Amino acid sequence: MRILSGIQPSGSMHIGNYLGAVRQWVSSQNRDAYYCIVDLHALTLQIEPEKLREQTVDYLASLLAAGLDPEVCTLFVQSQVPYHAQMNWLLECVATYGELSRMTQFKEKSSRQEGYRVGLLTYPVLMAGDILLYSAEQVPVGDDQRQHLELTRQIAERFNNRFGVVFTVPVGVQPAASARVMDLQEPTRKMSKSLASPLGLIYLNDEPSEIDKKIKKAVTDTDNEVRVDWENKPGLTNLLEMFASFSGETPPRVAERYTRYGDLKKDLSELIIESLAPMQQRYRELRADEGALRALAAHGAHKAADVAGPLYHRAAAAMGL
Ligand code: TYM
Repeated sequence: MRILSGIQPSGSMHIGNYLGAVRQWVSSQNRDAYYCIVDLHALTLQIEPEKLREQTVDYLASLLAAGLDPEVCTLFVQSQVPYHAQMNWLLECVATYGELSRMTQFKEKSSRQEGYRVGLLTYPVLMAGDILLYSAEQVPVGDDQRQHLELTRQIAERFNNRFGVVFTVPVGVQPAASARVMDLQEPTRKMSKSLASPLGLIYLNDEPSEIDKKIKKAVTDTDNEVRVDWENKPGLTNLLEMFASFSGETPPRVAERYTRYGDLKKDLSELIIESLAPMQQRYRELRADEGALRALAAHGAHKAADVAGPLYHRAAAAMGL
């Protein structure tokens, strides 16, 4: 099964990224799976150059620590495969301004930024190119990327109808629980690096004491009944979903065992700390050898280019270039 997915190297990786996407990448990795750190996308965040360089290496270590095996799948950095930027231009001449300006993420992010850059609008076209260059059949992503996936399908179909069939039309795949992990302090908003409230996110590399504090302080409600109810109990339901994702149960099954919020929080905090500990240990070991991480990325970029190159040339030729 051909798979592609990507993650922006912005800030630090959090458990929303892990439960919503990266954990699926690990469980579905195979010789035909391509995972990229999308540094070109991160440029839309007006990120400091040094920070971007450093975080790109952090993310390589985090993804390996989470369980990606470069002997099995292909892990690479988007900007090291030039076909992504080239394909972006071809697809900008296929996507319409109207459909891009209707994207929820664009509307939200542009409303928060003065003088936002054009890249924020065309961001989903670059993403469509990432996917279509690899003829991906499946794209494991969290719930917030569904609209971008739908747009990718539309662009692929429009291209195929107009220029002949070049692209595979992909489908998005979401996990059963935790496709949208919510902010611990504002549980009606998704956990997000770009809108972080200090206690709202758990990062994969948080110390046990920080994890414990954040879970204990997570906003719930006052009626003290443990049950799954997104509408009336978003904070508690978010905790139940996280619990279920880490323990491999369903959220209602977890809810059945508890009558008090405090007990649930205590056990959840222990479960998260225990689940992340081996990854944190591997992360420290891997991050210490930056040369090895860079070499691995260079190897991944070669493997990726072998697939992306021919597809790019087919698309370009189909358009008359
Ligand atoms: P990014 O970097 O914001 O997030 C990476 C992945 O994590 C998922 N995610 C979440 N899942 C559950 N709950 C949350 N609170 C949460 N926050 C983030 C995202 O859905 C995503 O799967 N545009 C993409 C990156 C991208 C990409 C691609 C993805 C670029 N090209 C091609 C797939 C295929 C993004 O900004 O993800």
